Amino acid sequence: MAELKMAEAATKPAGTQVLAVQDLQAWYGESHILHGINFNVNAGEVVTLLGRNGAGKTTTLKSVMGIIGKRTGSIRFNNEDITRAASDKIARMGIAFCPEERGIFASLDVRENLLLPPIVRAGGLSLDQIFELFPNLKERLNSQGTKLSGGEQQMLAIARALAGNPTFVMLDEPSQGLAPLLVRELGSLMLRLKREGLTILLVEQNTRLALTVADHVLVLHKGTMVFAGPIEEFRAHEDALKGGYLAV
Ligand SMILES: Nc1ncnc2c1ncn2[C@@H]1O[C@H](COP(=O)(O)OP(=O)(O)OP(=O)(O)O)[C@@H](O)[C@H]1O
Ligand SMILES: [Mg+2]
Repeated sequence: MAELKMAEAATKPAGTQVLAVQDLQAWYGESHILHGINFNVNAGEVVTLLGRNGAGKTTTLKSVMGIIGKRTGSIRFNNEDITRAASDKIARMGIAFCPEERGIFASLDVRENLLLPPIVRAGGLSLDQIFELFPNLKERLNSQGTKLSGGEQQMLAIARALAGNPTFVMLDEPSQGLAPLLVRELGSLMLRLKREGLTILLVEQNTRLALTVADHVLVLHKGTMVFAGPIEEFRAHEDALKGGYLAV
């Protein structure tokens, strides 16, 4: 398979700290959701954030992306403080966010969905490269967003994020609603992107997929980080962690 030359993503030596989150707290109005969480993500890694419904996973991603109004603590990206930065600036710095609801424009076709949103950073994947990575999308090029299957919509959402040349991608439950075969394809895609040098923060309820691709695992419970460690360490405590904090 041809290399995609996601050059910028691959420039950081593996192991360099990309994201550093310290004592992050977040609120929706008066509801206090994140109670001071800490975690790091290093270059070239897939870090998986697990936790039950309502644990605060999406809130964590939104806080990093700058779309939670009330947040405190410290968020650093490539050593720059982004705790209070606006989300468009955060996107231009190289962070992409694929939300749970995918955000596909229903009335636009695949090509329009890929080409219409402003490109936040030049140098992202071209249409040809996107179609090499997502052959299904090429077949559905002129299909409207509403006519795509859940899996195709998910691939389109990821493809659109990659067109903006991110170095760090946050995916919120990408496997939700996908058939098992597509979940496996998604797993291969993530490993491919990792080989290209991309750093990934993956929120999942599908622990099987998550653990297939993860280098590090984070477990969030009621807005508190109850586990953070390498995959081997997670495996060593898997039963207790699953029993205590994850839907099985
Ligand atoms: N816009 C909002 N306004 C008020 N409360 C919210 C809002 N969004 C989420 N919450 C609450 O914040 C808590 C954490 O929600 P969050 O969406 O971060 O959980 P999650 O771990 O992503 O769950 P899920 O697995 O169901 O997606 C929940 O109690 C939820 O009800
Ligand atoms: Mg969520």
